[in-house]
Amino acid sequence: MDCIVVQGGKKLSGEVTVSGAKNSALAIMAATLLTGGTHRIAGVPALRDITTMKRLLGHLGAGVEGSDQLEIVTDAIETFEAPYDLVKTMRASFLVLGPLVARFGRAVVSLPGGCAIGVRPVDMHIKAFEAMGVTVAIDKGYVHAACDELKGARILFDMPTVGGTENIMMAATLAKGTTVIENAAREPEIVDLACALRNMGARIEGDGTDRITIQGVRELTPLSHTVMPDRIEAGTLMVAAGITGGTVVIKNCPVPVMGSTIDKLREIGLIIEEGQNELRVSRNGALRHVEVTTNPHPGFPTDMQAQIMALLTLADGTSIIRETIFENRFIHVAELDRMGANIKVEHDTAIIAGAQTLQGTTVMATDLRASASLILAGLAAQGTTVVSRVYHLDRGYDRLEKKLQGLGADIHREKEKQQ
Ligand code: UD1
Repeated sequence: MDCIVVQGGKKLSGEVTVSGAKNSALAIMAATLLTGGTHRIAGVPALRDITTMKRLLGHLGAGVEGSDQLEIVTDAIETFEAPYDLVKTMRASFLVLGPLVARFGRAVVSLPGGCAIGVRPVDMHIKAFEAMGVTVAIDKGYVHAACDELKGARILFDMPTVGGTENIMMAATLAKGTTVIENAAREPEIVDLACALRNMGARIEGDGTDRITIQGVRELTPLSHTVMPDRIEAGTLMVAAGITGGTVVIKNCPVPVMGSTIDKLREIGLIIEEGQNELRVSRNGALRHVEVTTNPHPGFPTDMQAQIMALLTLADGTSIIRETIFENRFIHVAELDRMGANIKVEHDTAIIAGAQTLQGTTVMATDLRASASLILAGLAAQGTTVVSRVYHLDRGYDRLEKKLQGLGADIHREKEKQQ
């Protein structure tokens, strides 16, 4: 197993380019199942969740070639079952259900099961499919979905769900009649998926708002799409600049959809100059304590919570972070505390008493964003930080340590020594 070794204390400087958005690419890859033909997706990031989705599409019978530019041929889909060993490592695998049901009238997809950041059920997806005329049975941990005719319906989600909105939006493109999704998630990756679906001939309006209307069409054509840049990677790099007190220009940034992250980092004391699709991030003086509450887009993203916490461990006073999207998403706290941070967790709230310094030590990554948070802390810590179990990092970041190296960080990957 690999670990990442960071020698803290180097100010980052230079330019770095953000890769394509993981969450957008995964959904768009699933969308290729909606119709046969050769689909082309550009700007696909090199990370393990993408490899998992490639394997899943391959398992279903698709031909998948390329890396940054993917070519996916979906003429010969021969099985409709997404097995547990692929779904359990990545919840986004559940996104194949909508396209399979819409095109073939059936799908069998493993329940995602628990994961490090909470229970994460799929009940809202299932209820919405049932409203569209799909019969859903759960047997031995698998969701069996079948329907003779997918019907447009009015779907009201109890709370905004990104995956649920995407799954239903994809299925509805081929349903009979009109589907209206109320209380839809408004994440930018949903807008990117909607663009890709419109490129296929889908009739979708209202993406990016909480009411999406999809008029079903009889058939779609293969898609050709370039994935939007990853706002979470961009935000992580902004924190890297801020936590080291460096000056970094981040290129290929989706600036217009990063408002809540930019605002909060400014409040903490970072100086952020906005270009059309780039950000120049620097810092002048101490980091200030703030209050942060994670919320559905356009609120502060839960996927940036662990990273901003690393920054706030070094702020001048007590910060509060409230996590409203996922329970259990504070598992990085114990490891940050081992580095000298002073964080207490009460239910959904973390109270962070700013410390003067962090000390490098061996820490363990427990999920994707937690591992990014520990690397960020390591960049600012005194001495050496070893972040083990970095396969979590590789799930969602495209060569993060290489990008940080390019900015002057003393960071490398090595084989973990057996204890
Ligand atoms: C997506 C993102 C993930 C991000 C999250 C929230 C992808 C591949 N992943 O995850 O990076 O952290 O949005 O922005 O795009 N819920 C239910 N029942 C359901 C569905 C969801 O109770 O049927 C709950 C979840 O447990 C969670 C909340 O709703 O508490 C939001 O989850 P959701 O938006 O669905 O997250 P994902 O789509 O899994």
